[in-house]
Amino acid sequence: MTRDVFERPLRNLRLSVTDRCNLRCAYCMPEQDYVWLPKDDLLQFEEIEALVELFLDEGVDKVRLTGGEPLLRRDLPVLVRGLAAKPRIRDLALTTNGVLLAGNAQALKDAGLHRVTVSLDTLRRDRFAGLARFDELDRVTQGIDTAARIFGELKLDTVVIRGVNDDELIDLIEFGKARNAEVRFIEYMDVGGATQWSMDRVVSRTQMLDAIAQRYGAATPIAEDSSAPARRYRLADGTVFGIIASTTAPFCSDCDRSRLTADGMWYLCLYATEGKDLRRALRSGAPPAEIASMIRSVWQQRRDRGAEDRLTSDARTPLIPLDRLRRDPHLEMHTRGG
Ligand code: GTP
Ligand code: 5AD
Ligand code: SF4
Repeated sequence: MTRDVFERPLRNLRLSVTDRCNLRCAYCMPEQDYVWLPKDDLLQFEEIEALVELFLDEGVDKVRLTGGEPLLRRDLPVLVRGLAAKPRIRDLALTTNGVLLAGNAQALKDAGLHRVTVSLDTLRRDRFAGLARFDELDRVTQGIDTAARIFGELKLDTVVIRGVNDDELIDLIEFGKARNAEVRFIEYMDVGGATQWSMDRVVSRTQMLDAIAQRYGAATPIAEDSSAPARRYRLADGTVFGIIASTTAPFCSDCDRSRLTADGMWYLCLYATEGKDLRRALRSGAPPAEIASMIRSVWQQRRDRGAEDRLTSDARTPLIPLDRLRRDPHLEMHTRGG
């Protein structure tokens, strides 16, 4: 297994299959206009699979499909079927905003997808329309209900923003409970693309736990040995929820993740500003062994601890200025898929 400078293994690959999205969440795509990746640059499914094989050789065993909104990628179940046929992928998951999920869940399940995570930040229709700029809450909740039925379990991701949805933690836990869905509350992060971010809008894990304890009593932390970003907690009635404290308590020391954008740029840290152009290597006809050794050497030299570094910077403003995002859309969260 390939390890980096801090002995972190390369195990978790996030594959962004498109940079397009059918929502405009305030924490991810708050601007009016975006620069999209050129169509010809998007990796074909065969190209994605060829790169995935090389990553599996280096020790990857978890793959997550992301976007933008991955269900906007035409024929996505075809890619899922190809990936699901690789036994070295122990965990094959998808993160979606849920808008197109109801009509796709069965095809994804049939193609061999293991798990689904849906982003859900609010249960109030007017709030959803304000937060995501499209009035799609009903389709999202239908997607959640359908996927929960078909997959049997589900995760829900909620980015908590002060003054926006921080009064809905209890409602979301109850919503999840009724659907066998595990809710994970995510601290608002100052990643590329989050141009409206400010520290005073971050609700910390401690504050979330306090609010939850007021209603249910103190939640008990679940002891587990895992590199997953979510710390999980159990309520007295057995309900489990997670908190991803990427802003106030980063998990960089255990981070085993990297991400491949839809046009084949490989980024390690979510906060990284430089990536490796694997599309160019692939399309130039470089032999697989050469690309594999490129991947290995990049990971072996990896030193990123992006979220931890951000903790120590004092005057914290959005990570990347707008003009720089416009020049390089790869720096956007919606291009890297979180
Ligand atoms: P599982 O636990 O395997 O289900 O997946 P996951 O926790 O990786 O889930 P998901 O892809 O839904 O990620 C949840 C959120 O964690 C993302 O949307 C980001 O907000 C945050 N996150 C994901 N990767 C990173 C990372 O590399 N660094 C940091 N700081 N945060 C991340
Ligand atoms: N802070 C935290 N999480 C974010 N995501 C996108 N932008 C941010 C941000 N600024 C995550 C959310 C969303 C997923 C697609 O990406 O979890 O549900
Ligand atoms: Fe929202 Fe995800 Fe689309 Fe970003 S990519 S705008 S988080 S739905």
